[in-house]
Amino acid sequence: MIYNLSEQHSLVSNWVSELRDVDVQHDRMRFRRNLERIGEAIAYEISKILPFEEREITTPLGTAVSKVLKEQPVLATILRAGIPLHQGLLNFFDRADNAFISAYRKHNKDGSFEINLEYISCPDLENRILIISDPMLATGSSLVKTIHHLREEGPPKEIHVVAAIACTVGIEYVKREQPTVKIWCGDIDDELTAKGYIVPGLGDAGDLAFGVKTQN
Ligand code: URA
Repeated sequence: MIYNLSEQHSLVSNWVSELRDVDVQHDRMRFRRNLERIGEAIAYEISKILPFEEREITTPLGTAVSKVLKEQPVLATILRAGIPLHQGLLNFFDRADNAFISAYRKHNKDGSFEINLEYISCPDLENRILIISDPMLATGSSLVKTIHHLREEGPPKEIHVVAAIACTVGIEYVKREQPTVKIWCGDIDDELTAKGYIVPGLGDAGDLAFGVKTQN
């Protein structure tokens, strides 16, 4: 299931356009904050399909029956580019447990690359709702590898993937390898370069948020 937030008018599209814009995206604080805002908006959208329960709340004047989230999700992200989007989700799911994964592309001489996972810090995921954020869903290979590893810590009962921009190639790959996963994104692009960058995309999300790294 794909939820593409650009199909309806919302501020998410404004924030995605600022992420993409070469005249705006160099403002690192705004870049990170826009990713965070997208995380917040998508957290709100996801909350609409999560289980709720009624709870009696004592107010100073009486008792109110409120519908509240039945259980907290686990929020997972892929370092380092995922941090601002993750923070946005955490701002709204403010009692969530958290998982962190470090994944990087190890490039070969022929231009191809493999995904190496190095560090996983994760709670027990058995029967939990898992929300994984990755700002750029490009080839989908790091995401699929991450999901594969995280399933071993559980298995979770449902998995949501959150991206600012997703590429159709990556979406198809995730759908093929992990058909039950729900994908939420701010926009969808159709092209991918040989190096796995989304076109038109926005460039390198990690570098734009945190500065250019020396490793490739
Ligand atoms: N990661 C990025 O930061 N940008 C892309 O276009 C693809 C992956």
